[in-house]
This record gives sequence, structure tokens and C-alpha cells, in this order.
Amino acid sequence: MALARLGILISGRGSNMMAIVAACEVGVVPAEVAVVVSNRADAPGIAWARERGLATAVLPQRDFGDREAHDRAIVDRLQQAGVEWVCLAGYMRLLSKPFIAAYPSRILNIHPALLPSFPGLHGQQDALEWGVRVSGCTVHLVDLELDHGPIVVQRTVPVEDTDDVDTLSARILEQEHHAYPEALVKLLSQPWRLEGRRVVFEA
Ligand code: GAR
Repeated sequence: MALARLGILISGRGSNMMAIVAACEVGVVPAEVAVVVSNRADAPGIAWARERGLATAVLPQRDFGDREAHDRAIVDRLQQAGVEWVCLAGYMRLLSKPFIAAYPSRILNIHPALLPSFPGLHGQQDALEWGVRVSGCTVHLVDLELDHGPIVVQRTVPVEDTDDVDTLSARILEQEHHAYPEALVKLLSQPWRLEGRRVVFEA
């Protein structure tokens, strides 16, 4: 099978990016990482990607007039690299319409909660404060709303009485590193379609 070309967008640490890169390198995910893009020059993940010999680009928002101009520059860079699928991995910006239109149903995001509960910037803390007994992570297709599109994979973890935001986040993160490759394997290896919000796998 031909390898799909992935573009990964990050804003920070990049541990999900590392999990995707590793899963591609060992052949678990039938894809190759064509480029890693960060909107922050100081993102630790971009230094890691550079050292790893991956193609990288840093495109800070402040260099562009507005969100759409910024997104257009990112899409240009992704297209230059022949990217077919976009993985948001701790990329902390909402995508504009032209970005989503450039990759219809081909942009994925990971969120550290069981959507549709606890979207936003503090998924783990919001879940903990709500008092849920189970939380987890969600990999979903991206649409115009924050942490909202059709769900591809969810993984659960227990919430313990002794948890604080750090221990719960660490337990969820461990599952994130399995969930993202799992979602990519499913989407890239078997036929699927959207039925309303549902991602239906055909084989
Ligand atoms: C991850 O926990 C990811 O789920 C979260 O940011 C972290 C990035 O970590 N994303 C969101 O909260 C999106 N709403 P990483 O840079 O180590 O992959």
C-alpha cells in the first residue's frame, strides 16, 4: 500500500507528534510524516522534529494579517510537501474555513477528554472538577467548531479519588499516544464513510 503523507501541526511539547512519527517509522501506521508545522518558534516539539531530520516549518500567527492569511500560509506549506492528511497534535488554534475546505474530512485532532464532554483548553481539569469517574481522550475529524467533529477513536481511563490534574493528565496522555496511531490505522487501512456525525468503517 502506498504510504499516506501526513502533515503534523503542533504548538508545544509534541508528544503526540512523537507517537505518530514512531508508529509510522515502525510501519504500524501506513504513512510518512511529510512535514511538521509549528505556530510557535519555541515549541519543544519542533526542535525534536528538526533534530530527527523531519521537514519542519515555523509559521507564527503574528507574521500574518489575520487567521485566514495565517491558515493559507500553512496550507501552502502542507501542499508544497504533498500532505494528504493533517494531524493536529496539541495545535492550540481554531482552523478557518479555507483550511478545512483544503482538506475535507482529512484533518484530525486529539482532545484529552471524552467529547462531547469537556471541550476547550482544560479538558482534564474540567473533567476532574465535574467529578466524573471515567475520562479519556478522543480523536476526531475537525470541523469549524472547537473539539467538535465526527469521532474516530475514544479511549477511556478511570479517574481515581487521589487524582490531581497532573496524574489524570498523565494517565490520559498515555492513552492518547495509542489512540492517535489507532485512528490513523483505521482511517488509512479500511474504507469508511460518514453517516451524519458517525464515522462508519466498512470492513
Ligand atoms: C494533549 O494532551 C492534547 O490532547 C491536548 O494538548 C496536549 C498536547 O500535548 N490538546 C487539546 O487540549 C486540544 N483541545 P503534546 O504537545 O505533548 O502532544
